[in-house]
Amino acid sequence: MDGTSAQPLTLPLGPGLAIQPLFPLALGSAQLRLDPLDLAVMLQDAVALRGKAEGNPDVVCAWTGDLHGVDQLHRHPSFSGLSRQVELLALDYLASLGFALERVGLHLQRCWPVISEPGQGVGRHHHPNAHLSAVVYLNGDGSGASGCLRLYPPRQVNELVGGLAVGHGGPIQAGAPWNAPWAELAPRAGLVVFFPAATDHGVEENLGDDRRFSISFDFVLTAPAGTADSSPSAEYLAPHPSRWRPVVREDGGVVV
Ligand SMILES: [Fe+2]
Repeated sequence: MDGTSAQPLTLPLGPGLAIQPLFPLALGSAQLRLDPLDLAVMLQDAVALRGKAEGNPDVVCAWTGDLHGVDQLHRHPSFSGLSRQVELLALDYLASLGFALERVGLHLQRCWPVISEPGQGVGRHHHPNAHLSAVVYLNGDGSGASGCLRLYPPRQVNELVGGLAVGHGGPIQAGAPWNAPWAELAPRAGLVVFFPAATDHGVEENLGDDRRFSISFDFVLTAPAGTADSSPSAEYLAPHPSRWRPVVREDGGVVV
């Protein structure tokens, strides 16, 4: 593959103006079947893992396990089955994006619960330490009342003039689909979504009466184990972690 399209675009031929969506952000989704008993245990354990904490630490911010030492949930017996389902779908996501799965190593790096009480949300951020992120919703009725996931476009090239798409009475009208400042997704129990970890995102305020539960996943891509140094995967991807060596300080400590 040389990085160019195999075929030129096929454009509609008509007298009126047509616009094509080029370079779309790949939002993956699937509906998982959550066993009611397993789900009940996961909800209970997530609350137990949060303990006495309420926010992050501000009470208007949802509690996120990654900031409180609860970021290896995939190793927890109550969540390992769910994590495995997400891992397999992550491979499907990579394959859909064109990755040859034998040329890449995929690692589940972190997995943590997010609990958003009524009135709480999560500010805009991205996951710079990862390559692929996923979220599973443990509850939600699809209405968005408990707080939608808001995804922001990496660049607003269609606003033509930088900053216009934010609105504030500018010439671009609210709701114009080619200049949407964000896209929102309503939580629904069992829904899993995938998106590039570099995508800015946040969670809107929980305006419902119930706690909002979700599980976040961060994946990292490396070269596959045993990749030859001369292979293209070794040139563009970090070596497989089995080839990494911690750097030891002179006093014998490990640089961490
Ligand atoms: Fe996040």
